[in-house]
Amino acid sequence: MLRARGGWQALRRCASLPRARRAVRLRVREALGALEPADAVQVQGWVRSVRSQKEVLFLHINDGSSLENLQVVADPSLENRDLTFGSAVEVQGKLVKSPHKMQNMELKAETIRVVGPCDTWSFPLKMKERHPLEYVRQFPHLRCRNNTLGSLLRIRSEATAAIHSFFQDNGYVHIHTPIITSNDCEGAGELFQIETSNEARESAEKTHFFNVPAFLTVSGQLHLEVMSGAFTHVFTFGPTFRAENSQSRRHLAEFYMVEAELSFTESLQDIMQVMEDLFKTATSTVLSKCPCDVELFHKYIAPAQKTKGRLEQMLKNKFVTISYSEAVEILRQASQTFTFKPEWGCDLQTEHEKYLVKHCGEVPVFVINYPYDLKPFYMRDNEDGPQHTVAAVDLLVPGIGELCGGSLREERLPFLESRLQRLGLADAYQWYLDLRKFGSVPHGGFGMGFERYLQYILGVDNIKDVIPFPRFSHSCLL
Ligand code: 4AD
Ligand code: MG
Repeated sequence: MLRARGGWQALRRCASLPRARRAVRLRVREALGALEPADAVQVQGWVRSVRSQKEVLFLHINDGSSLENLQVVADPSLENRDLTFGSAVEVQGKLVKSPHKMQNMELKAETIRVVGPCDTWSFPLKMKERHPLEYVRQFPHLRCRNNTLGSLLRIRSEATAAIHSFFQDNGYVHIHTPIITSNDCEGAGELFQIETSNEARESAEKTHFFNVPAFLTVSGQLHLEVMSGAFTHVFTFGPTFRAENSQSRRHLAEFYMVEAELSFTESLQDIMQVMEDLFKTATSTVLSKCPCDVELFHKYIAPAQKTKGRLEQMLKNKFVTISYSEAVEILRQASQTFTFKPEWGCDLQTEHEKYLVKHCGEVPVFVINYPYDLKPFYMRDNEDGPQHTVAAVDLLVPGIGELCGGSLREERLPFLESRLQRLGLADAYQWYLDLRKFGSVPHGGFGMGFERYLQYILGVDNIKDVIPFPRFSHSCLL
């Protein structure tokens, strides 16, 4: 009986095999991990290489289940004109131990059927070429057939599962927060407004579909705060939209954000501990579940950045914490000249964030207690002077800058009410003020940019290379 490492499906199928010879369909990953040879196996996938010799025909097949291809060995008589690089094939034959040290199993083909031919001349990917990320970015509809993007998307999938598991294992309830909303959580005005196609045409006497202007969400935080008032610990992980500079290497108009909210929490340190634990647990899981995919990035995409060593250090050591005031002092004393002069009360720019991380030894750094006026209305006043600082935290990481942003929330009704009144938002946020009237508790939370997280652990320079579909004006696949 065929046994495949982790190939439960294969095992199940084998167990129910009728006595008559019927091929067991295996994923490439299952075939490569099989512990024993097997007759009558079928593998489907796309051809990654074809090498025809006098006595033997070699194919490499990939079906997206692993970075490694399955080697198919066939009689040259099975070759045909359509059997080219990029074509989709179905191969049936015997799974045998491979004589090659580098691989466990190979498939001795009895039949090869070309399911979908591929014109290699016009196909933009070429056999055995290591295409640069900039090149494959031009083909958002085909680049997933390339090794680098294949690895990236498997890692993205594992990281998503690891993040969900982290929260579920720690007793958090997953909440689907709305995508269409009328609130601007961050108050930064980076909103995409939504309207029906009719509204767009009849802009003169505008009637809104929901009676109020509606936007794509910039953060699920306010909705999570509602839920933390009943479930104590909640999280969300969904698409987030910001109308900001799309040319940057760290910004996307559409990205994924992981957000958590914790009730009965009085200290910012509690929030920081969850951020650090989430980061370390998810990263360890990804490293152990997709070692080959991660290695591809560390070896070929970011070798100069020593990402691997940096990650191992990061997992072992505690993250560093400095206050915003300390950060400004470090920047003012730096010998480096910055484009933006560091001054108390001004936002930290990317150049400042990168310097601070370097100054602290290229490790993740929490910067806490930011100026009151720099941060959104919901952050808790530290009462260290008249509206001086708030209990905010940003997590800065090497090569990226800000990865997470969070805070304690202002749970005291009078403080929140007067701040909203000063901003002219008290009417719009009556429902939010209600939360402070009915069983209000100290609470806080944070958000982590998922693409920036992937950029950091893999050492990818451009954020557009860690998303499934990059957006380019010349592409109709928007
Ligand atoms: O710091 P931000 O704006 O925080 C919030 O939205 C809070 N309401 C989250 C919360 O407390 N629940 O965004 C959080 C993170 C940033 O640190 C950054 O990593 C990422 O989201 N981010 C972006 N990632 C890619 N492209 C963009 N345009 C991003 N804007 C923010
Ligand atoms: Mg932020």
